[in-house]
Amino acid sequence: MKKILVIGATGQIGSELTMRLRSIYGNENVVAGYIKGAEPKGELAESGPSEICDVTDAEAIADVVKKHHIDAIYNLAALLSVVAEGKPRLAWKIGIDGLWNVLEVARENGCSVFTPSSIGSFGPGTPADGTPQDTVQRPRTIYGVSKVTTELISDYYFSKYGVDTRSVRFPGLISYVTPPGGGTTDYAVDIYYSAVKGEKFICPIAPNTYMDMMYMPDALNACVQLMEADPSRLVHRNGFNIASMSFEPNEIYQAIRKFYPDFQMEYQVDALKQSIASSWPNSLDDSCARTEWDWKSAYNLESMTADMIERLKIKLL
Ligand code: SER
Repeated sequence: MKKILVIGATGQIGSELTMRLRSIYGNENVVAGYIKGAEPKGELAESGPSEICDVTDAEAIADVVKKHHIDAIYNLAALLSVVAEGKPRLAWKIGIDGLWNVLEVARENGCSVFTPSSIGSFGPGTPADGTPQDTVQRPRTIYGVSKVTTELISDYYFSKYGVDTRSVRFPGLISYVTPPGGGTTDYAVDIYYSAVKGEKFICPIAPNTYMDMMYMPDALNACVQLMEADPSRLVHRNGFNIASMSFEPNEIYQAIRKFYPDFQMEYQVDALKQSIASSWPNSLDDSCARTEWDWKSAYNLESMTADMIERLKIKLL
């Protein structure tokens, strides 16, 4: 049976991925790694083991891996794009120095490693529509720079040391569970909260700015499916383009208005968020993921919107 460590288990992805992994591999086999001040709560805390595991502390990672006989690490520690622009050195320390710690522990202990990349790994020189798997990656944000480095150093550890590293380039992730906090794509989560609370939504992203987005259940499937994929089929490793929907602010607004016809949205464009969003692709080509490990998303804008609203009503009202 697999023994898994999730680093960043209380974050946007980690809080849901840890529970999904526990349901697949057994509660006791998935350790929730967290930092002080972000302790697991509720079901996450009660359903299985947890350990303090700061990605910037190599010794702490090694101790947890040895103590729990870990053989797979999901390394989710990162700052999102907007926050990272304000703290570039910290973004690097967590994203890259931290990844280096994880890869070294993985090499010494025979672990596989999943570390997310992102649509943020692309930049203004990248073909924006149907962005190919292998193309120009010259991002202008420290978030993107750290994600390209993540892909390269992860590939390096595979080719040089045989560490089984795999990753996907996540689109903006939308979920009703843990809010993202500090990303460029957060507006596509916030808009649902405003609609369900009956508030007007102030949109920080300009009309006609298309970005890839994905509902969290699809994102969780992608993580598990890629880590379970037959390695002999993998031509690529770090990181795969994955996609399920691409929209601009008015399209998600109109999708929500089908449920809330009186819902109001006003644009107040945030310069930093807009400059980041404009530098990212409009829609990725995910054919390599489809061919190499049978990736396929389940949700589109309509089905995601119906589910988000239903779940947020239960959570908020
Ligand atoms: N959701 C991330 C962000 O906006 C992109 O991967 O920073």
